[in-house]
Amino acid sequence: MAFTVTPWEVSGDIDYNKLIKEFGTEPLSEKTLKRIEKVAGELHPYLKRKIFFCHRDLNWLLDEYDKGNKFFLYTGRGPSEKVHLGHLTVWRFTKWLQDKFGVELYFQLTDDEKFLFKNDLTLEDTNKLAYENALDIVALGFDPKKTFIFANTDYGKTMYKQALRVAKKLTFSTVKAAFGFKDENNVGQIFFTSMQSVPCFLPSVQKGKNIPCLIPLAVDQDPHFRITRDIMPKLGYYKPAIIHQRFLPALEGTGKMSSSNGITIYTTDTPKEVKNKINKYAFSGGKDTVEEHRKTGGNPDIDTSYQWLTFFEDDDSKLKNIHDDYKSGKLLSGELKAILIEKLNFFLAEHQKKREYARKTLDKFIIKD
Ligand code: TRP
Repeated sequence: MAFTVTPWEVSGDIDYNKLIKEFGTEPLSEKTLKRIEKVAGELHPYLKRKIFFCHRDLNWLLDEYDKGNKFFLYTGRGPSEKVHLGHLTVWRFTKWLQDKFGVELYFQLTDDEKFLFKNDLTLEDTNKLAYENALDIVALGFDPKKTFIFANTDYGKTMYKQALRVAKKLTFSTVKAAFGFKDENNVGQIFFTSMQSVPCFLPSVQKGKNIPCLIPLAVDQDPHFRITRDIMPKLGYYKPAIIHQRFLPALEGTGKMSSSNGITIYTTDTPKEVKNKINKYAFSGGKDTVEEHRKTGGNPDIDTSYQWLTFFEDDDSKLKNIHDDYKSGKLLSGELKAILIEKLNFFLAEHQKKREYARKTLDKFIIKD
C-alpha cells in the first residue's frame, strides 16, 4: 500500500522496513542495543520495543563515546500549534539519553520554519508558540545546566552566520530533489534546511573542537539531515548520528497523529477531553459483538489503544498481560480503552503541573543573542 513520509507530509499505512530501505538507514541491531545497555545500565522501553527502530552512524558515535569523546544531543520542534502526545514521546526518550549518557542537549524551536511554511501564521504567532511549546519540553525534566533551548529568530545573529556556511554548499537542485520543491516555493523554504543544520555543528564552533552529535527524531525529519550529513565534512565537521522513531499512530488508525490528520490529543487536554476522544475515535481491533470477541479475541496489532500503550505503559509485564488478555478475548475493547485513558490522564495530570511550574524556570533553559 502506498504511503508518504516527508517533513511536510506523512500519510498512509507506513511500512517501516520499506522506509529503512528507501531512506538508506540501518536497522537497530541487537548488538548496537547491547552497547547502549552497557553504558546506560538498562534499555529504554522504546528501544526494547523498536519504537526507535533505525539509525545512522550510531556505532561510530558509541565508539567515540567509549574513547571519551562525548557527544551532544540535538532535537527540535516546529512551533505551529500546541504540543501533542506524539511530540512528547521523542522528547521523553531524549531526556533518558541525556540522563544516561550525561550529555548536553541543544533544542531548536523553528519559529522561522513555521512562519515560512504556514500561510495562516505570522512570525509573532510562531515565536509566541515557540515559548509556549518550550514549557512542555522543560516539564519533562531536562537538566537546566545541560540544556539549551532557542527560537531561531531570537538566536538569529549566531544562527545566521553559520547557516550561511551551509547555504553556500547547498544547491537549489539538491533541495528540489530532497523535498520535491517547485519554482513556486518561496525562497525562505528553499533556504530553511541551512538553519536546521546549524545545531549539528554549532557547539563545535563555540567550543573550538569537533564534537559528535546525536539527533533523536521522528523519521519524517530524516531528509533534512541527509542533506546536512553530505555538507558537514565539507565544512570540516562530523556527520551527525541519528536515531529514528516511528510515529505515534493516528487515533483513527493510519498515518501519524497530527492535527492535519484527524483527532489529536494535546498535552493541555482535560481528563474529560482525553476520555471522549479515545472512546469515540480510537480504532479498535476488537470484534463486533462481545460474544464473538470472547470467542476469537481482539487484534492488538491494529488496535490504536494497545499501540498507544506501547508508547505510554513502560512496564513490560503489565503491557504483556494487556496484550495477551486482549488477544485471548478476556479483555474487551472498552476495557482496553479504559486502561489507556487512565494511563494518559495520570501522566497528563503530572505533566500539566510541571508545565505550569516551567513558566518560572523557563529562563534557565533559553539561549538568545
Ligand atoms: N523541522 C522540525 C519540525 O517541523 C523541527 C526541528 C528542528 C527538528 N530541528 C530539529 C526536529 C531536529 C527533529 C530534530 O517539527
